Amino acid sequence: MSKVSDDEFYKTLLESTLAIPWRINWKTKEFTYIGPQIEGLLGWSVSSWKTAQDWIDRIHPDDREHTVSYCVRLSDEGVDHEADYRALKSDGSIVWIRDVVHVLRGGDSTSELIGFMFDISERKKLENELVELTTSLEKKVEEEVEKNRQQQFVLMHQSRYAQMGEMFSMIAHQWRQPLNNLSIIIQGAFLKYKVGRFNDELMLKLSHDSKNQIMQMSQTIDDFRDFFKPNRDPKVFIVNASILHAMTLLKPIFEQELIIVETQLEDNVSIKGFSNELEQALINILNNAKDALIENNSNKKKIISIVLKKEKDNVVISVEDNAGGIADNIIDNVFEPYFSTKKEKDGTGLGLYMSKNIIEEHCHGRLSVENSSRGAIFKIVLKEESLSIIY
Ligand SMILES: Nc1ncnc2c1ncn2[C@@H]1O[C@H](COP(=O)(O)OP(=O)(O)O)[C@@H](O)[C@H]1O
Ligand SMILES: [Mg+2]
Repeated sequence: MSKVSDDEFYKTLLESTLAIPWRINWKTKEFTYIGPQIEGLLGWSVSSWKTAQDWIDRIHPDDREHTVSYCVRLSDEGVDHEADYRALKSDGSIVWIRDVVHVLRGGDSTSELIGFMFDISERKKLENELVELTTSLEKKVEEEVEKNRQQQFVLMHQSRYAQMGEMFSMIAHQWRQPLNNLSIIIQGAFLKYKVGRFNDELMLKLSHDSKNQIMQMSQTIDDFRDFFKPNRDPKVFIVNASILHAMTLLKPIFEQELIIVETQLEDNVSIKGFSNELEQALINILNNAKDALIENNSNKKKIISIVLKKEKDNVVISVEDNAGGIADNIIDNVFEPYFSTKKEKDGTGLGLYMSKNIIEEHCHGRLSVENSSRGAIFKIVLKEESLSIIY
């Protein structure tokens, strides 16, 4: 092949590719060559590319400074490099360009640059779309997490109100008897007074009897007061005592419904946490057992049995009733918020949700349920914490 046809071959090859070749004399900063494809890509004619300034002027203002200083520095240092930037088309629109630059040295300074410009708009568009997609996904995830957090917050509030409601109805129940008694005492005294038989002795008796009733009512308030106190630091406490306290609070209702509570409680088993929270969970479970016994067990003796025992490092409390258990198709749902099989006025469906939350989130234990041959067994498993440190 002759020299001329070689040149022509290379020229044809260069000018038929999608990459646009160019060449700059680095001493004069003048273009000595630019591929004719540039006109098709950017709209500026080949003859309009005279000096490096023409290249600089056709870079998007936002990319101009850093692209130019980067390329000039590396060109001066004699280092080959690449730069991505937005080029301005003659019609004002934008094309993403990747410039790949090879630096030629003469002596110890740069004499020439030769390079290729590639149109990378499509790739940039995809990249941008990907970034947008990722950001919008991240935003969506954040929004969902926040929504979830708020729902959780609202639920906890509702549960607390439901819990308060249950507590108030228990207080009301416990006050009914002494209130009744007070009313009888006062009416009796009034009748005696009316028939002229009220005397000092009766006055003393009236005062003594009514004080007794009032003390009972005040005791009830004391019993419940702890439930409404905010928790501070977790403490080591005896589980046995908490179970007995929860039972005391429910005693009047259980007696009225003729429910027998059998217990088998190991002494001196202790855990670390909040005793009033454990009692709340127990009250919820015991109240549910009572509801189930009232609904399902009319002929048999109504029995709830509570067992507290140690199993290795764990403390296990189980509460079993003989009300027939929970139907298989709903047993997996009973811990869900708002799940209730009771009439609206009797159930909120928040009791077990709240109890599970207390046991698992606050006390780091487990609350589960299964059916026995007699009824439902709720099982609380907590980590034992020895009291010996305190002694
Ligand atoms: N001991 C039990 N025996 C039978 N069903 C029970 C028992 N304990 C709970 N359940 C079922 O679990 C449901 C959810 O209980 P809970 O969360 O306390 O809500 P609520 O008591 O307000 O209905 C109850 O409605 C009931 O169907
Ligand atoms: Mg309940």
